[in-house]
Amino acid sequence: METVIKSESAQEYQLGKVISTTAGSANNPYTIQPTKSLDVVQWAKENREALNNLLVQQGALLLRGFEINGPEKFNALFSIICGDAMEYKNRTSPRDQVYNNVYTSTSHPSDQTIHMHTENSYSNAYNRIISFYCLVAPTIGGETPIADERKLLESLRQSTVDKFREKGVRYVRNTVPGIGLDWRTIYQTDDRDEVSKKIRELGYDFSWVDEDHLRVAWNLPAFQRHPITKEDMWFNHMYFGHKNLYDPAILEFFPEEDLPFLTCYGDGSPIEDDVLEEFKNFYLENCIVFKWQKDDFLLLDNMMYSHGRKPFEGDRTILTAMGKPQKMTQIPS
Ligand SMILES: [Fe+2]
Repeated sequence: METVIKSESAQEYQLGKVISTTAGSANNPYTIQPTKSLDVVQWAKENREALNNLLVQQGALLLRGFEINGPEKFNALFSIICGDAMEYKNRTSPRDQVYNNVYTSTSHPSDQTIHMHTENSYSNAYNRIISFYCLVAPTIGGETPIADERKLLESLRQSTVDKFREKGVRYVRNTVPGIGLDWRTIYQTDDRDEVSKKIRELGYDFSWVDEDHLRVAWNLPAFQRHPITKEDMWFNHMYFGHKNLYDPAILEFFPEEDLPFLTCYGDGSPIEDDVLEEFKNFYLENCIVFKWQKDDFLLLDNMMYSHGRKPFEGDRTILTAMGKPQKMTQIPS
């Protein structure tokens, strides 16, 4: 049973005498740093509960200056704090498996922005925690902006909140050659019958438009109740999949029904431009953007904080691990 300690002071979480903390601001997440060299795995074991409590309190924690030195210790550290890392299934982004269930963050083209999203919030199984580890820091761009989704919810018009509560979100996903992931990568098999079976089990609608083109559509709630704080959280992929965020060249080339990933209201009606603007404006003004440093370890409560990626030049290797699996449920009214 996890408990939440209500306290503003990190010292009360007993993170140890050799730790300094910096409160989160517009330019940095809440940051934890060692004041002298220490065994980070041992430290995490001793402070597991305090770290989890602090994560629920803050929503985002940056561990900086610890000697992690690569994917093995990142994996060990993640497991100690969050439990075993989850396998990445039902994929939307290209990732390479690096070590156990540690993956590269995404090999999406470096000159493109990855819009703000919460991981797997389009799926009926998701992770409450996501973490990122900086193996190679980018020199130009490549930041991972993060944003407080509770602040986002507070900023929305009541009419927007009410409409999403009532209708939920409908997702449509097309696997079309030449754009996005193909169905073999998404479902990790070459067998169409197996894919059909998996989708049927999920209760999603689907059709094979042709051999390479699979179209899947499903509905999910726009909100989820946080399992620890019991707050109703804005938790969905509406923003990421809105057609207005696509490159105009893609919109010219693909009819709307064939876009790789598209979101609308649960009844199939389009989400209005002015509604999307609310989100766009919030993210423009409220993202926390910090420069990655080698060995940085960022822990996010995936229901409290969204993340994205800025374009970059040169090398950049950010690894990711996800944990604390949850099932999407309807919030009782
Ligand atoms: Fe992501």
